[in-house]
Amino acid sequence: MRVAVIGVGRMGSRHADNLAKGAAPGAQLAAVCDIDPEVRRKAENKWRVKAYDDFRELVDSADVQAVVVATPHYSHTEICKYAIERGLHTLVEKPIAVTAKDAGELISCAKRHGDVIFAIMYNQRTNPLYAYAKRLVEGGELGRIVRADFTVTDWYRSQYYYDMNGWRASWSGEGGGTLINQCVHQLDLLQWILGMPKTVQCKCRTVGRKITTENDVTALFGYGDFDCSFRASTHELPGVNRFEIAGSKGLLTITRGMLSAKLLRMDESEINARSRRDYGNKADKKYRVVRKFYGIGNYLSDALYGQQCRALRAFVAAAEKRDPSLLVAKGEEGIRALSLINAMNMSDWTRTGAEVPVDADAYAAALEQKKEQERAARPKQ
Ligand SMILES: NC(=O)c1ccc[n+]([C@@H]2O[C@H](COP(=O)([O-])OP(=O)(O)OC[C@H]3O[C@@H](n4cnc5c(N)ncnc54)[C@H](O)[C@@H]3O)[C@@H](O)[C@H]2O)c1
Repeated sequence: MRVAVIGVGRMGSRHADNLAKGAAPGAQLAAVCDIDPEVRRKAENKWRVKAYDDFRELVDSADVQAVVVATPHYSHTEICKYAIERGLHTLVEKPIAVTAKDAGELISCAKRHGDVIFAIMYNQRTNPLYAYAKRLVEGGELGRIVRADFTVTDWYRSQYYYDMNGWRASWSGEGGGTLINQCVHQLDLLQWILGMPKTVQCKCRTVGRKITTENDVTALFGYGDFDCSFRASTHELPGVNRFEIAGSKGLLTITRGMLSAKLLRMDESEINARSRRDYGNKADKKYRVVRKFYGIGNYLSDALYGQQCRALRAFVAAAEKRDPSLLVAKGEEGIRALSLINAMNMSDWTRTGAEVPVDADAYAAALEQKKEQERAARPKQ
């Protein structure tokens, strides 16, 4: 299968490298596209493929069967729609779009072209620890969920990172900050494992960086029966990445590279009912411990190809067999984490709780206002 990468900056060049070296069996790098002439010149020298300056020309060339879209966020909707409407299988980098309104349009377009495989790069779903957590929750082994906490403060980013590309961490260039760029991964895992919350209260800050969007977030998701806290930042060192889910039958914790599950023999409600002691019967409170590790094989493959390559391989296999069930994540699933992000921003801007999902038109209008404020605050040249 002949595949092109559109946008060959930091992430797109990794996808192009992987395709060029045959890391996704069945696929070859056939072309690239980038609006930056210097990037195109380097790309042609490196990969010896044609470098287009306009994605429409590339798509219309009929030279490729699939595209990987790795451009800045605002362009995802337009590029993906153009490719899908012309029958090209499409893998979009996260986030699917900046607003749920745009994502909805793109998903409708993909539904109208059901023979085209549309996927989103949610590479963190290939981490077997999260997949195992999902099985435990869905299989009921943790019982009824009573609490969850996700803290992800290990996405450290320096001022240098933000200054590298003008589009980063701005409302007009990126459509947000750490939520839409980095945390979209964890918010997808959160909804993948626990489902979608009903409400959110969120507070965002900008700490220690000259950017106009957030790099520090505190949120509380309401699920009705329980709440899930979410803390994230890109300025903290050394930082932590910890997902904890407490259920009526156990406690699950995932920290970087390790999962631990403490599984009770009976539900807490039964322990409570049987107890004739103030702190519960000791014997009833016994649990078994399950431990899982990310594994040397995964670390090695990440070092060689990046975790994203596993989702790229799945995309190629799904496109070859026309079987979306082989994907790591279907494109349409991209709207869920994005809806959470839109609701979190809305909650922060209005300083009140927000429903999930928020009204898509209201969010799009509020975002336009943020962009306007950002433009007005920019120092005059
Ligand atoms: N999955 C992951 O783990 C991961 C990691 C980093 C970035 N990303 C995502 O990858 C995407 C790109 O991020 P990046 O860090 O590589 O950005 P980048 O700025 O390094 O690269 C983007 C490239 O796209 C080009 N471009 C911009 N508009 C274009 C257009 N209309 N047509 C063709 N080319 C265009 C730019 O010239 C640039 O070379 C974003 O969606 C980002 O969120 C994903």
